[in-house]
Amino acid sequence: MGVQALGGRRGVIRKYRDWLPEIPEEAIATLGEGDTPLIEAPRLSEKLGARLYLKFEGMNPSASFKDRGMTVALSRAIATGSRACVCASTGNTAASASAYSARAGITCFVVVPVGKIALGKAVQVLAHGAKIIQIEGNFDAALKLSQRVAEELGNVSLVNSVNPDRIEGQKTASFEVCEALGRPPDALALPVGNAGNITAYWRGFKEWREAGYADTAPRMLGFQAEGASPLVTGHDFESPETVASAIRIGAPASKEGALAAMRESGGLIESVTDEEILEAQAMLAREAGVFCEPASAAGVAGLLKLAREGRAPEGLVVSVLTGHGLKDPDTILSRTSLPEPVPATFEALTGVMQRVEPAAG
Ligand code: F0G
Repeated sequence: MGVQALGGRRGVIRKYRDWLPEIPEEAIATLGEGDTPLIEAPRLSEKLGARLYLKFEGMNPSASFKDRGMTVALSRAIATGSRACVCASTGNTAASASAYSARAGITCFVVVPVGKIALGKAVQVLAHGAKIIQIEGNFDAALKLSQRVAEELGNVSLVNSVNPDRIEGQKTASFEVCEALGRPPDALALPVGNAGNITAYWRGFKEWREAGYADTAPRMLGFQAEGASPLVTGHDFESPETVASAIRIGAPASKEGALAAMRESGGLIESVTDEEILEAQAMLAREAGVFCEPASAAGVAGLLKLAREGRAPEGLVVSVLTGHGLKDPDTILSRTSLPEPVPATFEALTGVMQRVEPAAG
């Protein structure tokens, strides 16, 4: 009998078994991923002129969407007798692979660009006891090396999204969105880095339609950071740069999947600036109460940009917030800091409180 996650969240393998590759019960490695909230965002909706919902994937066990695919990839690795896995990562894949490897009892190697992964993600890897290898190169170099390691060593499973099991697991988010809304949304906006997630969502929506649960599928709206936007410019970036470290990728492995999603859905893939990303992150935290990491705000940043240009999608719109804000404390701390302490007196406290404007609404 595989490990159970009791309570409300059964994990995506048990919830969507018929839609996923076959996994023997005893091989299932789950932490109760999936079933993340779809949160209505009325104030942002007003700005867009559409009804916006936020799919908060930061509520997964390792605090990003990666867990949906990782449960499938690690369970299949166990089923085929793997004793170790490897991945390249900008941080979240590493955190998720570390957690699920600990759950599964196998060794995990993560290859990351030195100094370029957010603090919280590095801490997660260390906490789970995975082997972290920092390379003097970027994510794209890390991915090439990890692929070669998996090919040449043979007994090490590659758990990046070039592993089809990852995409299979991640597509379950589309099913949840359709189930929660009672129909597919009219548009879905999300950040694009290595392009596995947009590929997975589109596959999910197509399968939902093919199964006869809906007649429609959403327009897929993908957003890259301007300094790392190979799918927008049409050429790879040698030295991608963005504050959104999770999507600092110059040569997306699932490029074809992303372009097909855009084409087939009548959608788009465009870029947003770092400033637009940070503004959207702040707006989500302050006006919707949802704290996501910078990369995760790229979808909303893109929607706001489209709205400013009179091109906002209409109807029911979902933006995927891919990872939790706590993963990247440095980005917030570089823009704000804790105030000086005051004496522990009523007067000092009320003095400070009187200087603060009450929140509108
Ligand atoms: N948002 C976050 C928070 C991510 O961590 C990633 C990718 C993406 C969006 C983009 O998803 O690559 O499927 O297009 N992070 C990977 C990692 C690359 O290593 O954690 P994608």
